[in-house]
Order: sequence, then C-alpha cells, then structure tokens
Amino acid sequence: MASDNGLTLTVVGCGTMGIAILGGIMDSLNTSSQSSEQEQSLPPRLPNRFNATCRSDRSASRIKNELGKYNANLNVIQSDNVRAMKEADVVLLACKPFYVKDVLQAEGVREALEGKLLISILAGVPEAQLEDLLYPGLSHEQVREKITIVRTMPNTASKVRESMTVINQSTPPLPQDTKNLVHWMMSRIGKVVEIEPKNMDACTALCGSGPAFAALIMEALADGGVAMGIPRAEANLMAAQVMRGTTGLVQDGEHPAILREKVSTPGGCTIGGLLALEDGAVRSHVSRAVREATVVASLLGSGAKNVNGTRH
Ligand SMILES: NC(=O)c1ccc[n+]([C@@H]2O[C@H](COP(=O)([O-])OP(=O)(O)OC[C@H]3O[C@@H](n4cnc5c(N)ncnc54)[C@H](OP(=O)(O)O)[C@@H]3O)[C@@H](O)[C@H]2O)c1
Ligand SMILES: *[C@@H]1O[C@H](CO)[C@@H](O)[C@H](O)[C@H]1NC(C)=O
Ligand SMILES: *[C@@H]1O[C@H](CO)[C@@H](O)[C@H](O)[C@H]1NC(C)=O
Ligand SMILES: *[C@@H]1O[C@H](CO)[C@@H](O)[C@H](O)[C@H]1NC(C)=O
Repeated sequence: MASDNGLTLTVVGCGTMGIAILGGIMDSLNTSSQSSEQEQSLPPRLPNRFNATCRSDRSASRIKNELGKYNANLNVIQSDNVRAMKEADVVLLACKPFYVKDVLQAEGVREALEGKLLISILAGVPEAQLEDLLYPGLSHEQVREKITIVRTMPNTASKVRESMTVINQSTPPLPQDTKNLVHWMMSRIGKVVEIEPKNMDACTALCGSGPAFAALIMEALADGGVAMGIPRAEANLMAAQVMRGTTGLVQDGEHPAILREKVSTPGGCTIGGLLALEDGAVRSHVSRAVREATVVASLLGSGAKNVNGTRH
C-alpha cells in the first residue's frame, strides 16, 4: 500500500461489469478535479491505484483497450488473484457466480482478504454464501471481525452508467466512511439505494428484471405506432425517447399520476388511450409481474420462501 492517501482497488474477474465500474470510477477521478464535486458524502479516501484480474489474454487486452484511455494507474494481472488481493485495500468481486468457489477457496485468499472490504456484485450469491466459502463454520459475527463484506446488486444498464444498484444493508452497520466509499463507487455507474435485507428479492425483481419489463412496454408502444403506419425504426426511436422523457420528468420531481393527468385533455386522445390500458389491466399486470418475479427470486435464493413472501 502506498504512502499517499489513495486506496488500492482490485477488481477480481474484470469482465463487462468490472470494466463498467472501473471506467466509471476512473472517468470520475479524471473529471472531478475541475468540475466541483457536489456530493456531500465524498469518502475521505478514494481509490487511485487499480488492479484488474482475469485469466485469458483476450480479457486482458479488452481491459487495456477499454480502460487505457483513462490514463490511470491500472495494472492487469492474469492468473494471480491472490497477489492482487494482497495489495488491495478494497476488493471488488466481479467474476461470474459460477467461479466464485474457485476464486475464494484458492490458497492464500483468506489471508489476503483479512481486514479488508470485499464488495460483491455477484447476482444470486447471498452474503452468507460468501462468508461460508471464506470461513466455513464461523458465525456472521465472527466473520465480520475478520472481513467486511458488502453485497451490491447493479443491473444491466451499468454499461451506459444508468444502473439502478441496490446495496444490502449490513448488520452491524458499516462505518460511515466505508458506507460512503461503497456508495461513491457504485454511484459511478448509476443510482444507488441501500435497502433492508428483507427487500433483496423484491429489489432483484424491480431493479434486476425491471429493464426487461420496461423493454416489453417499450416494444408495445412502438408496435402501436407501427400498426398505425409509422416505420419500425422511427417507432422504436420514438418509444425509447418517450420513456426516457417520462423518466426525466419523474426524476425531476413530477409525480407520475399528476404527469398522466396533465397530459389528459378532456375529451382528448390521451384519456381515450388510458381507458384502453385500464381495460387491459396493464397496471395490475405490471405490478404483479414484479410480485411474481420476487417469488421466483426468493425460490432461487438460499432460504426458500412461500408465495406469500414469508420465510418458512
Ligand atoms: N451483466 C450484468 O448485467 C450484471 C448485473 C448484475 C450483476 N452482475 C454480476 O456481475 C458479475 C460479472 O458479470 P459480467 O457480465 O461482467 O461477466 P464477464 O464479462 O464474463 O466477466 C467475468 C470476468 O471474470 C474473469 N474470470 C473468470 N474466472 C476468473 C478467475 N478464476 N480469476 C480471475 N478472473 C476470472 C473472466 O476472465 P477470463 O475471460 O479471462 O476468464 C471475465 O473477464 C457476475 O457475477 C454477474 O452475476 C452482472
Ligand atoms: C497493482 O497496482 C499498483 C498500482 O497500479 C501497482 O503498483 C502494483 O504493482 C499492482 N499489483 C500487481 C500485483 O501487479
Ligand atoms: C444482507 O446483509 C445481512 C446482514 O449483513 C445478511 O444477514 C443477509 O444475508 C444479506 N443478504 C443477502 C441477500 O446477501
Ligand atoms: C399463503 O398464506 C396462506 C394463509 O396464511 C396459506 O393458507 C397458503 O398456503 C400460503 N401459500 C403458500 C403457497 O404457501
């Protein structure tokens, strides 16, 4: 670890997601010096040295190609996760869930990670499973004395830095500086919300599956345009921009119900279309899609739940 005030961040399994997150961080570090950082909760120490691990030459050159432009202090390390973790202050676990056992149970990993912050983005791998791989048999409290693990869940829009990322709230709570660091890092690729552990499955459904649901609605909007004669390419472009514009208004503070009412001129076409949507029970079907996806997420997770959402 170096003498300056910066942190060394190691991304283990640096593929699509790892590159997206590192790119966001490096980009932010490059630009923040001139543009005044408006964030109140900037962590006191930010990462400024980066190690990215992978195995294949293909992955290594991809990392260099995509991140080289940021001109940051970045090293690509092939087939030596342990060395890269040893040198790190913070480790971002970003390999495929399938490989996590190999990665965490390799010789020397436990020692390399001791006393450090481990941030996981692995889909469907609960914190308890990571604890078990590193310290089989130890309780959560005992593990927390040796390592800080934070489970985060970014979504597919990370690639365009529009992720809706949820962070599982830790018990006991993380120190404020650690919390700020995790929030800062993950907000380089989009928005971040910290949630209570019991809402993890619902957030998997809303944030993880949500882009697929929104894509279906977007397709339907475009299809309607096509049905009435708009060429496909234009209809797709229009549907996407309409959803983006609606998003912008809501994120600017407009309530969706007020927005809808403002557009509904008496006797006009919008209210006519809305009536057709309500006849089709779109509202309850979309809500129930999230509910259904939550149930499936809970069945895929470790502690099986019934459809009522309560553990048994
Ligand atoms: N994609 C999403 O939208 C999304 C959303 C939420 C969460 N996630 C989670 O993010 C994680 C990464 O997804 P991804 O799409 O970025 O996958 P990816 O592109 O396949 O990246 C995984 C990387 O891990 C490397 N790797 C595999 N085994 C390794 C090992 N033993 N040591 C070091 N590196 C190793 C691979 O390098 P080689 O090719 O050299 O083996 C590859 O570059 C997954 O756990 C996924 O669940 C993804
Ligand atoms: C990790 O990165 C730092 C700074 O970029 C570098 O000095 C160090 O040698 C790297 N570690 C490995 C194992 O390559
Ligand atoms: C979230 O964190 C809590 C407390 O640290 C832990 O008990 C729980 O298993 C975590 N949930 C997931 C899904 O990782
Ligand atoms: C849901 O809850 C009701 C009432 O508590 C119970 O009768 C029912 O069996 C539950 N459904 C499942 C699938 O567990």
